[in-house]
Amino acid sequence: MLQAIKYSQGYLEILDQLQLPFVEKYIPIETAEDGWNAIKEMKVRGAPAIAIVAMLALASELHALKAADKIPTSAEETKALIAQKLEYLVTSRPTAVNLADAAQKLGALVTTQAGQSSATGQSVVAVFIQGAEDMMGNDLDDNQRIGHNGAEWIMANATKPGVADVAVLTHCNTGSLATSGYGTALGVIRSLSSKNVLRHAYCSETRPYNQGSRLTAFELVHDKIPATLITDSMAAALLADAQVGVNAIVVGADRVAANGDTANKIGTYSLAVLAKHHGVKFLVAAPRTTIDMATKSGSDIVIEQRPASEMTSIKGPRAGATAVDGNLTLETVCIAAPGINVWNPAFDVTPAALIDGIITEVGVVEKGPDGQFHMEGLFNGSAP
Ligand code: MRU
Repeated sequence: MLQAIKYSQGYLEILDQLQLPFVEKYIPIETAEDGWNAIKEMKVRGAPAIAIVAMLALASELHALKAADKIPTSAEETKALIAQKLEYLVTSRPTAVNLADAAQKLGALVTTQAGQSSATGQSVVAVFIQGAEDMMGNDLDDNQRIGHNGAEWIMANATKPGVADVAVLTHCNTGSLATSGYGTALGVIRSLSSKNVLRHAYCSETRPYNQGSRLTAFELVHDKIPATLITDSMAAALLADAQVGVNAIVVGADRVAANGDTANKIGTYSLAVLAKHHGVKFLVAAPRTTIDMATKSGSDIVIEQRPASEMTSIKGPRAGATAVDGNLTLETVCIAAPGINVWNPAFDVTPAALIDGIITEVGVVEKGPDGQFHMEGLFNGSAP
């Protein structure tokens, strides 16, 4: 299985996604600052992956401090040190809630530990490290469940009875590269494929940063899943094509508000509008860590703006160039008129009204008789 994140006992490496699909190179992440930079520069991206890398980056830094005998003796001082690093890590990218959620949960564990009468700096660090390390395994389990739940839902709701023959369109990259492994929306595609019901997967290029053509296409080729790349502007024509017969569009999420409005990669909203027009099911696949019950609706979600250069230029190897000792020079090519103004929001918000179901690790949430999503049950064990 492709692995974006490799971690063992304080040693963290990430696959540098700026170089994919041309060069597969792991880079070490030793401190919270390394983690912050890798996330900001998008060497690692995808909502679950950035949360995991941020927490493991700090775990690695703490491991090193421990080895150097530099952990403060006081539990309170250690708690303050961890809290300050968590606060810093959360500023790397604002839209995906998984990072803030992980920081809040691990911060709470640390606070509880520091409040014990027997607590020491060492015990507080041990609790943080254990919590960060557990996140990685939990995410993989969740993704496999999401994949299964989504595949079952599609077979039950988006295909003709008895016809196990599914075509799916996805957007951005939500696979092993965006998570600890398997993926969310791409996990649904993997699950359909392993159940032998996937006729074809389509992935959109995902301009401007090309997570679809560089990363999702790379994963689909890697797993030998029958797949075709389209540009974002081809989606309407694809859905209109009866021969192609797309059954469902499945996307990931960076933050799902309490009412179901969903922030995801720019272009997701257009796909949802197209799906409605063509009567194609539109599904969001996300772990519960992406659902933000504290955010009432999409209008409260902060949308990250990315640098103009990510839209006005592209990076790649010179045609025909081959890697030498695993290294390949990537060149930057300008593709827009110099001087033009650029608007480059990384995400958009798809209104809940356009979403048919939210696929989570505990089941698929559909709208109630009132036409609204009710997601409280996802967190109190009563739903979906
Ligand atoms: O800017 P990116 O590449 O981090 O955006 C990623 C997405 O929008 C994904 O769809 C989302 O994070 C879910 S990844 C499982």
